[in-house]
Amino acid sequence: MYVCLCKGLTESDVREAGRQGCLTTRQIIAEFGLRENGCCGRCAKNIHELVSLAKSQLERACHKPVSS
Ligand code: FES
Repeated sequence: MYVCLCKGLTESDVREAGRQGCLTTRQIIAEFGLRENGCCGRCAKNIHELVSLAKSQLERACHKPVSS
């Protein structure tokens, strides 16, 4: 699914950026140049929601009891 129409960014691109170390909305916006001329910035809210969701999933995974 497309997250940013101006740059043709997909959800997968954002997830991959997270795996490469872009862990905040600000870092992802900078990484993909979403503040450059010609970009509208409307995707920032969606990117923020993706980052928040990924962080909450990670927190839940880290607190999950280990089964034996
Ligand atoms: S939709 Fe992402 S900068 Fe326009």
